[in-house]
Amino acid sequence: MSMCIAVAGASGVVGRRLTELLHARHEVRSLTRSPEDAARRGVRGRLIRADFGRRAGLERVLEGVDALFVATFDPVDPRHDAHLAAAARAAGVRHVVKLSALAVADADAQDLVTRWQRECEHLWRDSGPTWTLLRPRSFMSNCLSWAGAVRAGEPVRALRGDTRNACVDPSDVAEVAARALTDPAHRGRAYALTGPQALSVRDQVARLGELLQQPVRYEELTEREALVRWRDRYPEPLARAMLEMAARQAAGAKTAVTEDVPRITGRPAATFETWARGNIDAFRPDRDPNAF
Ligand SMILES: NC(=O)c1ccc[n+]([C@@H]2O[C@H](COP(=O)([O-])OP(=O)(O)OC[C@H]3O[C@@H](n4cnc5c(N)ncnc54)[C@H](OP(=O)(O)O)[C@@H]3O)[C@@H](O)[C@H]2O)c1
Repeated sequence: MSMCIAVAGASGVVGRRLTELLHARHEVRSLTRSPEDAARRGVRGRLIRADFGRRAGLERVLEGVDALFVATFDPVDPRHDAHLAAAARAAGVRHVVKLSALAVADADAQDLVTRWQRECEHLWRDSGPTWTLLRPRSFMSNCLSWAGAVRAGEPVRALRGDTRNACVDPSDVAEVAARALTDPAHRGRAYALTGPQALSVRDQVARLGELLQQPVRYEELTEREALVRWRDRYPEPLARAMLEMAARQAAGAKTAVTEDVPRITGRPAATFETWARGNIDAFRPDRDPNAF
């Protein structure tokens, strides 16, 4: 049965893949602050301008929507989920699939990002529509942030690069989201989404080197160096949270592999090798950097 599905965060890593999966069979409303940029980046569905920082206008965007996917991004400004939840309730949205994070299930994880995701989960559980919570481990696509260094022949630099994470292909997260949005069997469930094995940065760098058929070097950052880099890119509280998350990973908190992706999709979770093969052009030295 064809549904009307809104995707909040449609131009994001998971949202964009989700619009590809849904648009042929469903009416998809893809929410973005810039429909022009989203169109250029190949986001599918009807592109609708929306800013989650403002409550006004969101309700109209969600009128007539059966199911809503929510990926929000700003732990430093937690109003985004509150605005979307109020609008979804007022517009009569029936079901919400919320992109959360697996650390919420770890009571020892008390960093800013995880506390924010926990609060968002509570908000959506109490918001009115039925819900499904998706809790992924780190996305394999995070390593696209190394692409510039690899293309330039520079080493990949990271903190605690020998510690492992059961990272997941964001396309698998999108596939689980598509099923959770369209099949009532997933209502009231929380899913732990991982890849099929736990890998370190050093492991990932080695695989990229094999695929590129050239060595890619790895260089360890100190905590201080990592903090300086993160401060350049993120507000201070977020940079500090990233240090805490890295420490949880070093304590071995992120290595467990779960079976929710294969159980829900009916096929094995994608390996890092598969993800890397599909994205290897981003790391090739002769690639136009403006293409990414
Ligand atoms: N990366 C990981 O390893 C990881 C792991 C577990 C969980 N998560 C969770 O996944 C979520 C991020 O998902 P993602 O990686 O798919 O997203 P993403 O690639 O970070 O996409 C960010 C999107 O947010 C949209 N956006 C930002 N501010 C907005 C605003 N005020 N109003 C409307 N849209 C706004 C932007 O779209 P426009 O510019 O088009 O508006 C942008 O495309 C976060 O909640 C994160 O905690 C991530």
